[in-house]
Amino acid sequence: MELENGTEVTEFVLLGFTAQYKFWHVLFIVFLVIYVTTLVSNIGLFLLIEIESSLHTPMYFFLQHLAFVDLCYTSSITPKMLQNFLRTEKSISFIGCLVQLLVYGTFATSDCYILAAMAVDRYVAICNPLHYPVVMSQRVCIQLLIGSYFMGFINASINTSFTFSLSFCKSNAINHFFCDEPPILALACSNIDLNIMLLTVFVGFNLVFTVLVVIFSYIYIFAAILKISSTAGRQKAFSTCVSHLTAVTIFYGTLSYMYLHHGTNATQEQEKAASVFYGIIIPMINPLIYSLRNQDVREALKRIRKKCF
Ligand SMILES: *[C@@H]1O[C@H](CO)[C@@H](O)[C@H](O)[C@H]1NC(C)=O
Repeated sequence: MELENGTEVTEFVLLGFTAQYKFWHVLFIVFLVIYVTTLVSNIGLFLLIEIESSLHTPMYFFLQHLAFVDLCYTSSITPKMLQNFLRTEKSISFIGCLVQLLVYGTFATSDCYILAAMAVDRYVAICNPLHYPVVMSQRVCIQLLIGSYFMGFINASINTSFTFSLSFCKSNAINHFFCDEPPILALACSNIDLNIMLLTVFVGFNLVFTVLVVIFSYIYIFAAILKISSTAGRQKAFSTCVSHLTAVTIFYGTLSYMYLHHGTNATQEQEKAASVFYGIIIPMINPLIYSLRNQDVREALKRIRKKCF
């Protein structure tokens, strides 16, 4: 797959996992089941929040968009991966690769910001309940949401345009199962210092900023919960944020594993496994966390079931 001097790359090859050449049938079925579960559960959660008026609150407004964002970013990578399990020619067009990086970068970043907005929502609800309807008004929620999509789009459009203005002459084989930035940069023959700097600045800023928002929100939330004198009151306040706290812990836990292990002795296969968890498994478990552990969602589901049968 070495390229001759002067040839332009028109398509890339996605090498995927080393194991996929031997176990492609098993992997295909496992990831197909995961993807179908992700589609059904996220679309289900989205529709449930849409039709149930008891779920028309800021928290569920953000959750509805989290389901949408999860659906978009997993759909930018999983269908192509499934298709490539079945083909010997594991290619992706130049433009396909560009779109994948753009969509993935946009929604992966929006996800961080929506999780942060949800932490702020819980902070206001628990620490400032009297002002909750005023502070988390519909207008504020929509602004936070637009801000989340905007930050995602800025991150992805800048990183993607600088990446695809490079020239690729070393090889067209991407050592990953989707077009992520670092494995693409490894193929460039122009200078990539600027790209690495931009990626570090953007990813660093987005992660550090949203993690700090989440951490500070929860410091105040825990302080407020500890001040509640009745055990029942404490449990009630805590139960409204336990789903979010679980989702946030899994999300940032995986991300920190990915970034802290990056470049140490983590093998490329381990990095790919972390990406699978982040890009494919988390979007599947998010709606499950919210529907299995959450009283409101369970009751809404029960009401719908009664209405239907
Ligand atoms: C920003 O975009 C890049 C490239 O599109 C992507 O690799 C990265 O994960 C995105 N940043 C965050 C914080 O998700």
